[in-house]
Amino acid sequence: MKEQLNSILEDAKKQLESAQTQSETDEIRVRFLGKKGRLTEILRGMGKLSPEERKATGQMANSVRDEIETMLAERFEAVKAAAKEAQFRKERIDVTEPGKVEELGVAHPLTITMEEISRVFRNMGYSIVEGPEVETVFNNFDALNAGPDHPARDMTDTFYITEDVLLRTQTSPVQVRTLLKEKPPIKVISPGRVFRCDTPDATHSPMFHQVEGLLVDEGVTMADLKGTLDSFAKQLFGTSTKTKFRPHHFPFTEPSAEMDVSCFKCGGKGCRVCKGSGWIEILGCGMVHPSVLKVGGLDTEKYTGFAFGLGVERVAMLKYGVDDIRLFYENDMRFIEQFK
Ligand code: DAH
Repeated sequence: MKEQLNSILEDAKKQLESAQTQSETDEIRVRFLGKKGRLTEILRGMGKLSPEERKATGQMANSVRDEIETMLAERFEAVKAAAKEAQFRKERIDVTEPGKVEELGVAHPLTITMEEISRVFRNMGYSIVEGPEVETVFNNFDALNAGPDHPARDMTDTFYITEDVLLRTQTSPVQVRTLLKEKPPIKVISPGRVFRCDTPDATHSPMFHQVEGLLVDEGVTMADLKGTLDSFAKQLFGTSTKTKFRPHHFPFTEPSAEMDVSCFKCGGKGCRVCKGSGWIEILGCGMVHPSVLKVGGLDTEKYTGFAFGLGVERVAMLKYGVDDIRLFYENDMRFIEQFK
């Protein structure tokens, strides 16, 4: 029995030396001291011994158990500390490592241009409103004084969804929506997408962007229109910019005009950008036609207003010297990243 106890102690010592984890250590405890453990087995068999033998063996068994318990406790602490240390090492943060730069995207040149235009008008007290890209034929044409025979209603120009619904060909229907919803003084701009059945080439795209403007109040005159748009041109293209208003025709304005700005590239001498004329056409505008004001139920003797609409792509192409409109829609990062 003595030998057995000694070999139990030796085995326990050996096994504990190679135990690497807390659970391995615990398995060893069960193997030796558990209910069916080797030492427990011995203690159980002691009933068969004589009283003297029982006393001596009992004492020895107790001291073996104490020793194993002490070893177990020590080993347990050691592997626990090692595990903690390993964890620390794994989670260690190297504060001297260089930081990772999160790359932000860049704004699209059309977004930049639209924001610049919006900022100028916001600073003049205009609110920004939005309208849907899928519009009624009524809002896009009829209410804007473009009756059924107007050439812009031709199927070749317009994407029709049904007989009464289309993809808006201009942002002007937002004028109608605004007049139906708000009472003067009205002072809004509306940037957004528009659609036309055009074959893409360097200057055409079936989808492009416009910014619409509408101001309605008592006593608004053509002089207000000219002053506002001249100030806008100076803020967008530079303070030395000159403007020129040429008579034109739009169904929803009377009188109508197109505004040219003096070429910001050559200052008016004539160059490639202005095609030698010194002037660049930039937007359409005019005094809101009385029949449009009537859609909003306004007294046309009391209220007058002006409206304007400009192409965002055209402004961006001129400002940035882009010679093909399709570049805006290809999303080639080498192109887009040049405008940040
Ligand atoms: N909607 C016109 C177009 O797409 C642009 C325009 C011209 C808008 C004159 C206006 C305006 O508000 O007064 O060609």
